[in-house]
Amino acid sequence: MRNGCFKRHTLQHLLARRRSVRSYADEPVPLSALLNILSAGQGRTSTEGKRAAPSAHALYPLTLGVVVRRVDGLAPGFYRFEPESAQLKPGGHCVQTGALNAAALGDETWLEDAAVVVVIIGNRGLAIQHFAEQQADGLRGARYVDFEAGAVAQSMYLAVTAEGLGSVVVMGFDDAAMTSALGLDESGQPVALFCVGRPVV
Ligand SMILES: Cc1cc2nc3c(=O)[nH]c(=O)nc-3n(C[C@H](O)[C@H](O)[C@H](O)COP(=O)(O)O)c2cc1C
Repeated sequence: MRNGCFKRHTLQHLLARRRSVRSYADEPVPLSALLNILSAGQGRTSTEGKRAAPSAHALYPLTLGVVVRRVDGLAPGFYRFEPESAQLKPGGHCVQTGALNAAALGDETWLEDAAVVVVIIGNRGLAIQHFAEQQADGLRGARYVDFEAGAVAQSMYLAVTAEGLGSVVVMGFDDAAMTSALGLDESGQPVALFCVGRPVV
């Protein structure tokens, strides 16, 4: 793809500009930008409840948890994104400083430096049960959850690019340790983490 030949915010421009960013400035992220990014991932886009990213059988086994550190007009904490209202609701858990990187497989300092870490949470049990008739061993349902998370991540990457921010998807973590760090129960497993912040230039 050719760089620099597209009008700002055309799909081609955003695809050409999208890049994983791992160094973030201390600056906060505007709340409106964060909500645009989350809406690109899981926002409701139809009256019958369909969302920005596709979902097999419109089951929607994904939710977005949001670790907020530096967002204008929003207290730091753990939130859940509500697709229907496109708003953030308190998530009921306090994520300790250093806990996300401690659960990573490598030294992923961007998990601690990012202004926001979006957690793509999958209800694999729901999908495995729902698609058991198609494949009783559950592999199909589990695969669909991972596939859908990829669609969410790419949409959020493009929205981040449109907002002039930077992001990186992180999947190199210990599942049990990350589940515990995020205070998740058996109804949701962390599929991917998505760091967001203002890039260091
Ligand atoms: C499935 C998947 C897992 C990834 N896991 C990590 C990760 O754990 N840590 C990280 O820093 N980047 C991770 N990345 C980002 C890749 O390193 C990055 O996309 C790749 O280097 C290509 O660079 P680009 O995104 O700038 O095009 C992951 C990407 C994908 C698609």
